Amino acid sequence: MAWKVIKSEKDLKNLLLNESLLSLGNGYLGVRGNFEEGYTEDAKTIRGTYLNAFHDETEIKYGERLHGFPLTQQKVLNVIDGQSVDIYIGDERFSLFEGEVLEFERSLHMDRGFAERFIRWRSPEGLETKLHFRRLVSFTVKELFAINIRVEPVNHSEPVTFVSTVDGDVSNYVDVNDPRLASGHSKRLNVTDVRHEHGLSIVRDMAMITNLEVACVTATAVEAGAYIFASHSTDTSVQETYECEGGEAVTFTKFNAYTDTLRHGNALVETGIAIQNLQRDTKFNDLLRAQREYLDHFWSVSDVEIDGDAELQEGIRFSLYQLLQSVGKDPFSNISAKGLSGEGYEGHYFWDTEIYMLPVFLMTQPAIAKNLLLHRYSILENAKMRARVMGHEKGALFPWRTITGPESSAYFPAGTAQYHISADIAYSYIQYYLVTKDEELLRNEMAEVLFETARLWIEVGHMQDGQFRIDSVTGPDEYTCIVNNNYYTNVMAKHNLAWAVKVYRYLEREDDKQLRKLEKKTRLEKHEVTDWQEAAENMFLPYDEKLKINEQDDSFLRKKRWDLGNTPKEKFPLLLHYHPLTLYRYQVLKQADTVLAHFLLEDEESIETIRNSYDYYEELTTHDSSLSYCVYGIMASKLGYKDKAYSYFKETARLDLDNIHGNTKDGLHMASMGGTWLSIVSGFGGLRVKEDGLSLAPWLPENWNGLGFRLRFQDRLIKVRVEQNRIIYTLIEGKDLTITHHGRELLLESGRETVIHRNGSMQKALI
Ligand code: BGC
Repeated sequence: MAWKVIKSEKDLKNLLLNESLLSLGNGYLGVRGNFEEGYTEDAKTIRGTYLNAFHDETEIKYGERLHGFPLTQQKVLNVIDGQSVDIYIGDERFSLFEGEVLEFERSLHMDRGFAERFIRWRSPEGLETKLHFRRLVSFTVKELFAINIRVEPVNHSEPVTFVSTVDGDVSNYVDVNDPRLASGHSKRLNVTDVRHEHGLSIVRDMAMITNLEVACVTATAVEAGAYIFASHSTDTSVQETYECEGGEAVTFTKFNAYTDTLRHGNALVETGIAIQNLQRDTKFNDLLRAQREYLDHFWSVSDVEIDGDAELQEGIRFSLYQLLQSVGKDPFSNISAKGLSGEGYEGHYFWDTEIYMLPVFLMTQPAIAKNLLLHRYSILENAKMRARVMGHEKGALFPWRTITGPESSAYFPAGTAQYHISADIAYSYIQYYLVTKDEELLRNEMAEVLFETARLWIEVGHMQDGQFRIDSVTGPDEYTCIVNNNYYTNVMAKHNLAWAVKVYRYLEREDDKQLRKLEKKTRLEKHEVTDWQEAAENMFLPYDEKLKINEQDDSFLRKKRWDLGNTPKEKFPLLLHYHPLTLYRYQVLKQADTVLAHFLLEDEESIETIRNSYDYYEELTTHDSSLSYCVYGIMASKLGYKDKAYSYFKETARLDLDNIHGNTKDGLHMASMGGTWLSIVSGFGGLRVKEDGLSLAPWLPENWNGLGFRLRFQDRLIKVRVEQNRIIYTLIEGKDLTITHHGRELLLESGRETVIHRNGSMQKALI
């Protein structure tokens, strides 16, 4: 059930939206769900193929450029187009925009790893033909994108001709009216090589500034009675033509291998050819089999089952599948805000990774989470350099948005000023350690990242009247910028500082040699550790006595409240209709801020403060950012606001499938996809990971029959099943483990099921 996303509108109204929804990827290579045969001139479509982290640099133009503003911005590139295949039935070119579409259905198979399109088409001359397109981006050979097309005549025996193109003349998409999309700089790649050699089409492009190169080496094959083959190259593309005898069904397959200089060095074309040679005897069906195997393995741990709501079931599976398709699995890449499904936010990595997406991988596929952490470590030097530019003598300030490390944010109040990203990264290292107990990482990368980020807080904050205060930063809420003592930032910095001390002391006790090595490398002085401790212990956390809430920052409650009830619907998102200063002058939130801090670090405040704060901020939150609903949903679960928890979950789980924000065309909202999982596992499941271990507090929305998910924790695999009358924990792999269940200790025994009934009785059974 619900393994397939199906789109069957024949009117082709939602081309752009469906291109994002039906995009394919494997973390390295991503392709939008475009039509192989193309469109009409005026059709609105974004034809896109992307390689994670493959980018160019563009100049940022400022009216007034002040000190420390980044001069350039990185931008992921739309690379060589290997999607195109024109199909002729006799002399008529197949197009969904001409003739008559008698049947049409597209789908994405999330259990089998491919997308397909079924069409029955009547040409303007009345020839009827069935066409079946299948495509996949391989999870096992990351360079491969394959297309398979079967054409079957219904009422004719005309020849069928396939014209397959590999085109290096490509540009990025621009929309001058939307700040979330780039403006200008659309053409960034030059074609440097075009050849047809050894039966392969070869196209190579180079980015204008970074000189990064990409190649596409393509092999094709037909299955037909008889055919005539020809190839033809222009300055920028290679074309292959197969004219096949008519009367019978014919099949055409295209295997594109994408290589780039980041991963494959300079021998791009040679590597592409080698991949094709290795795949020479591989058929499309073999690739499909490998996809299935890979996905069986993935879903055996990652699947979440919702019994009783097919739409939400589709929403969570779609989210998990898209997360898998988007997440970088090599040292060069992370996971961008839109994954590999579109050009929104220019392929940049944000805090979205650490706070919204990494937790999903951490609890299900920890090796992927580790790779994300190591990617951050690989840009630590950039973060240190950025801190110097920002006037800090020590420490690391991670870029608000980047691909390979340099800050790419042009609007500093909602960009660089979000210093919290450094604490967010520290937080995710700590979570990773608590879940995996990976000592190796703790002693090396984690210790260094924690020390360098702790130093940043000492640089940016100061002690006053016995309190450690942090001025002029922006918290997660981008409608309230450059403030003093943002609660979220301060409490996350406190955690960062306290853990830096903890890790330092731990190394002092356990591994003095390693500590000395790190001290030498980072030139750490003893007094710094005392400073961290003092700052953590005295961190100022704003609290309003009258409202009994954590104030979002020093001045938030003194501002006028925005009247959300009387703001016309068409004025949302506010950022597209009001000058930033207007927004900054009001109590109005783009997204969860203090409420998010209460989720991440719930033990810092009493439940009353958490509840009062939730009630207060919820009324002022627009959820104009897709990162918001899930947080309010998770905290609604904690506070027992069951209806709210459920309705926020619904907004999150189908945000893209139902195009709730209206901009899914620019790419999927990956953080919200992570948020969908968090809403279930941390929301309905109540999962928290703290120093004292794993805790859960599951409950089930009343219109569901059951909920099931699995978690990896310290070499164990735990299955959680929640039903209306009972909760079942199964320790599938690993040693006995004591967890906290609704506030009480519970021993899970290896290979056994623990059943807790609604009336409190408990049973244990072998599995
Ligand atoms: C949100 C940020 C987020 C970014 C990328 C913005 O709209 O306000 O919190 O990091 O989108 O997803």
